[in-house]
Amino acid sequence: MKIFSTTVLIVLALVAPNVNSFPHGAPTSVCQSLLPKHHGTPPQPPQTAPYRIEVSSPTIGQGQTLAIRIVGQPAELPFEGFILQGRSFIEPTQIVGTFNEADKSKLMNCGDGNANSITHTDKHKKVNHYIEWNAPTDFVGEVFFNSTILAQFDKFWTGILSEKVNVVQGQVPIQSSPRPATAFTTTRTSFSPTPAILGQSQDTVYNGCGQNKVCFGLPDNCIDKMSCMIFSSVKVRGEIFEIEMKTTDPEAVYVALGFSTDARMGDDLVTECVKDRNQVSVFTSYTSGPPSYGTSRAGIPQNDATLLSGQVQNGELYCKIQRTPRTTANGRVFDLANEKYHLLVAAGKSLKENGAGYHDIGRNPSSQAINLAVVQEITSSSNLLIRLHGAFMIAAWIGTTSLGILLARYFKQTWVGSQLCGKDMWFAWHRMCMVTTWSLTIAAFVIIFVQLKGWSGEQNPHALLGTITTVICFLQPIGALFRPAPNAPSRPLFNWVHWFGGNAAHILSIVTIFYAVKLTKAQLPIWFDWILVAFVVYHVAMHLLFSGAACLSDKKTANRVSTFEMSDRTNSRKNNSSANKMNAAVSLFGNNLKENIQNLCVFSMHRSGKDFLVPTSSFC
Ligand SMILES: *[C@@H]1O[C@H](CO)[C@@H](O)[C@H](O)[C@H]1NC(C)=O
Repeated sequence: MKIFSTTVLIVLALVAPNVNSFPHGAPTSVCQSLLPKHHGTPPQPPQTAPYRIEVSSPTIGQGQTLAIRIVGQPAELPFEGFILQGRSFIEPTQIVGTFNEADKSKLMNCGDGNANSITHTDKHKKVNHYIEWNAPTDFVGEVFFNSTILAQFDKFWTGILSEKVNVVQGQVPIQSSPRPATAFTTTRTSFSPTPAILGQSQDTVYNGCGQNKVCFGLPDNCIDKMSCMIFSSVKVRGEIFEIEMKTTDPEAVYVALGFSTDARMGDDLVTECVKDRNQVSVFTSYTSGPPSYGTSRAGIPQNDATLLSGQVQNGELYCKIQRTPRTTANGRVFDLANEKYHLLVAAGKSLKENGAGYHDIGRNPSSQAINLAVVQEITSSSNLLIRLHGAFMIAAWIGTTSLGILLARYFKQTWVGSQLCGKDMWFAWHRMCMVTTWSLTIAAFVIIFVQLKGWSGEQNPHALLGTITTVICFLQPIGALFRPAPNAPSRPLFNWVHWFGGNAAHILSIVTIFYAVKLTKAQLPIWFDWILVAFVVYHVAMHLLFSGAACLSDKKTANRVSTFEMSDRTNSRKNNSSANKMNAAVSLFGNNLKENIQNLCVFSMHRSGKDFLVPTSSFC
């Protein structure tokens, strides 16, 4: 028994100095590993660490002093040993900053540095241990503190990290000295987003798109559907460019936005939002083009972009970043305030040693180079012009054209009883509707070219179909102007060509409007399709209705009039026979006709005289 306990004592005496790490602090040999040389004693799982490293400020100016505390959980939980270092976030092997002399602590010189690490002097129990750290004067960017904390004996944790601290140029107001009494009341843990950021709803990224920020994403047209797999936006706030990025792919480890002069990868400035475990950080990198496509952060200034907030939530990676407008990377000046750039969004599932990996989730270049600095004005005015274009075209092709075609087709036999400016009523109305169509179409066509300053870059037949429609529309009245006399032999040919041109343009225009819904710039909701479908159904129904009415009235009056006969009716008709014809068709559907016309055309009309309609005010 005695021998046994003696043996235990001897063994303990031999082993204890080893097991209890370094009673007088860590030797410099642990500078990189931060690992006590405990033979066979592994560190505790990091998530079980009952200690944390708290810092007095998330931002610090160069040369300013930051207060750090090693705090137990619960607060009175003591520890015996520690080693702590400030490290560059981009280059975690780089030790940055210096520590001040502190109670029960001694400074260490790791690598070429002086006083860049700190450890304990003895194994007395420490509680709520206070340390001061001076930010480097030759470094800008994010740093964090990495530590090993030893509770007692052979129980220790490595890789206990502080929150990130952003070292910026100049001075920032921070609570660093004198010792903060209340600065350490938060329970923020390393790298997790602050509660304010967590509370923010993700869908708010789409708020303001096209109004006060430029939004761009993947797949095409995902912005108006609010369904981007990769989302990016740029908002200009004075001298600051605020970039937001998000990817919904749970496997993504980065989402990035590049500024490119040619919409192709190579020589682009890239802002990366990177996920590493549960932390989010921002990097600036530069792309190389063919043949060795890739991105690299080497030699690219990292201080021009700072993370305002970031999170990984429900598998979605999100960053809000602020950028200075000017950055010089690889000798190339990127001036976001004055130059135009294509936007390039990308996301991927891997990182390389010094940059983002292949964009295996997706990438999308914007078709146009834009000046981000003037987005606010341009976007609002651009919206106005795009909306005007849409409103004019819809008014023209769903409104006046449809009405004009119906008038020409079904009323030329019937609506001839009264005269307007020496012409049959149907013709006066047809001409007025079509002149309106023509004017609106030409105006809308010019407007969209003023807005886009060229051909639309979107892969959509809208632009081509619209141009064909506009050309036909442009030619229609010119042809009508030179139409042959009513009795000329070439008159039927004109009638057919005019009929064909009008209907072809009308059908093309409706197809074109359908394609407009798919345009990113139009920002039309997808249900707009159904309004168009409803219009087409209505239009077809009107044709059937009038055709039926014409058939019936033909039978009734035995006056065989084919709507395809296209005989000229534009000359004056004052005789009673035409009035009879008019009465025949209209009396069948008189009330319906009136309603339909009122629905189609906004002019106020009233029933005057007997069975036909005249406008309340005449026009020429
Ligand atoms: C912190 O230090 C430990 C020990 O050297 C290391 O394993 C770990 O990767 C470091 N953590 C970070 C985020 O660099």
